[in-house]
Amino acid sequence: MSHDQLPTERPAVVTCGLPYANGNLHVGHLRTYVDGDLFSRALKRAGQNTAFVCGSDMHGTPVAVNAAKEGVDPKEFALRHHEQYIERFEQFNIAFDNYGHTHDETNTELTQSFVESWIENDHIHEKEIEVAWDAEEEQPLPDRYVEGTCPYCGEHARGDECDDGCQRHLEPGEIENPVSTVTGNPAEYRKQPHKFLKLADFQSYLQGFLNRLEGTDNARNQPREWIEGELEDLCITRDMDWGIDYPGESEEDLVLYVWVDAPIEYVSSTKQYSERVGTDTYDWEQVWKIGGESQHGTEWNDEWTDKSGEIIHIIGRDIIQHHCVFWPAMLRGAGYNEPRGVLATGFVGIDGKALSTSRNRAIWAEEYLDAGFHPDLFRYYIATGSDLENDIDFSWDRFAERVNGELVGNLGNFCYRALLFAQRNYGGTPDAETSEEITAEIENALEQFREALREYDIRAIGNIAVELAAVGNEYIQRNEPWNLVDDQPEKAAQVIRDCVQLSKACAILMQPVMPGKAEALWTSLGETGAVVETTLGDALETPPTEFAEPTELFSKVESEHVESLNEELRERVEAAEQDSTAGEGEDSEADSTDVDLEPLEEERISFEEFQGVDMRVGEILDAEPIEGADKLLKLDVDLGVETRQVVAGLRELHEVDSLPGTRVIVLANMEKAELFGHESNGMVLAAGEEADLLTTHEDAPLGTRVK
Ligand code: MSP
Ligand code: ZN
Repeated sequence: MSHDQLPTERPAVVTCGLPYANGNLHVGHLRTYVDGDLFSRALKRAGQNTAFVCGSDMHGTPVAVNAAKEGVDPKEFALRHHEQYIERFEQFNIAFDNYGHTHDETNTELTQSFVESWIENDHIHEKEIEVAWDAEEEQPLPDRYVEGTCPYCGEHARGDECDDGCQRHLEPGEIENPVSTVTGNPAEYRKQPHKFLKLADFQSYLQGFLNRLEGTDNARNQPREWIEGELEDLCITRDMDWGIDYPGESEEDLVLYVWVDAPIEYVSSTKQYSERVGTDTYDWEQVWKIGGESQHGTEWNDEWTDKSGEIIHIIGRDIIQHHCVFWPAMLRGAGYNEPRGVLATGFVGIDGKALSTSRNRAIWAEEYLDAGFHPDLFRYYIATGSDLENDIDFSWDRFAERVNGELVGNLGNFCYRALLFAQRNYGGTPDAETSEEITAEIENALEQFREALREYDIRAIGNIAVELAAVGNEYIQRNEPWNLVDDQPEKAAQVIRDCVQLSKACAILMQPVMPGKAEALWTSLGETGAVVETTLGDALETPPTEFAEPTELFSKVESEHVESLNEELRERVEAAEQDSTAGEGEDSEADSTDVDLEPLEEERISFEEFQGVDMRVGEILDAEPIEGADKLLKLDVDLGVETRQVVAGLRELHEVDSLPGTRVIVLANMEKAELFGHESNGMVLAAGEEADLLTTHEDAPLGTRVK
């Protein structure tokens, strides 16, 4: 049974793959959020009651591993990134109606209720499996704590995902040649009981689901292959402290696998939105449950289709299996509604190569903003750079070319010419009727918009305003209103009226892709209110009779700017490459553990400022663990002039007994601090996550100043 066409009378929810709260966002991540934001805005312009929700993915080894590298508590670490993402999304005009996180109370409760529901419906069983184990550290090695070879495609893979190869999810114990990422030792195996979701219960349901599923082809095709054989159980527990507890008192050592509570955040975030605006405005249960209620059973009843809300997920192509196999089974197992559409985007590469955070071949969200470009330019580039399923290459050259040609040269140029001419000659919109020709052009554009929406064609939605502006430019050029004002004033007024109307339609049609620029154009048109409150039909309403002289919507990207951005990127990638080749053979750590190199600090400091930094050669005399602080050591350091007590986070990274006698560099005029009740008077300098201690090459006497 096929669905009613979009927009429907029912509420819709649009979600984006949750970002792991473990680092900085780059242009690759932004593709998911820009496309999601565009699609939800388009639905809203088309009149559908839509909630656009997301949240930070706080749990799992992606967060735990990075937090450990920094030596901080995973919760504190994840919350810090969560806050940063909220700011970043706002800066890119990505306007979630609710943005929560997976560790909050709503999600913890809802996740446990899902699991309880699976238990009640007999979809869970326990079995003993072999899990990877680090004998040296005596710790289990879930997911990203282990790396090895993918059993399906032979590529290098992480414990739970074949990220470099076939993108498949890997179950605990499946990876071949497992190596611990903690010590670099080959992993051993240990038997351990775990909980499993019986995916086989949903095998025939999933086949039907994939036939009903709308969105991109890749979201149906790959999963069809993956569910051909009998579906294996999905291990839903992990030996970790960080995560949501498996419900039930006897299972207190087990937390839920991050891919259990993460998608449930889609529901939790909708629930929070609903609670905020009131269920009369938006009822989360009407969307997520079937006719507002749970309906259990492992099969789908065709009468349920179009009984609830429209669930549409926007994700990158690396997480298709989670959204098109595991997630629908999880929903069905708890009696919930199913996704109507999954849109899986291609990846974003940089200058013709894959984006790589470990090689620092990335354009960071912050870096883009620092370059001084309006966020809407990036949004336009990424949403219309290729069809949704295809990969996009980001290059500053192409960016400048497209901004200058399509936005400055076409859309911006048309609206500016039209409004300037109207303002100078008529003080605003001339008193004339829109021609049939232009009314038809606008209606046609509106129809294209609706059609693109029905087909989930994000690229087409993003292109419509620029295409309509091209019609306008051709129209203005053909009619030459500047030659008509004197001899044919009525004709001139009508041509300009048409152009103002086209500009107004452009403002509404460009809103989903360039919301900030759309509001600016709206203001230029002298409109009150905001484009964000309009619906498509407003594109044909008469624009205000008066408005002020317009300003240009877009400005040209200069070639010198592009050159300097290219140069910066080149230097950064080269530096990272040299680093990794220098280390090859002796220490492949940098490669295997995906180190995120920070971009070099742009801001320079003066020599005087540097002189204020007092660094000295010192020697560690004594090192002692601090009780209750797993990571900290209390050091006595001889600085020649005096001996200082310094507290340093070296306990887990260095053999404590080997430290006395080590020459180090100490920042002597660091502010004093108190850590776990011990005064720290100075800072020992070290490089990177492994705290590689800085020392001297020869034997400068203790106390010598470093300059
Ligand atoms: N936390 C999971 C998703 C859980 S959804 C219930 C995750 N997080 S992520 O931070 O790795 O990715 C966030 C989003 O960015 C995902 O939609 C992912 O597919 C997308 N992308 C990450 N890198 C990307 C590119 N280089 N290119 C395009 N999209 C990419 O996965
Ligand atoms: Zn693989």
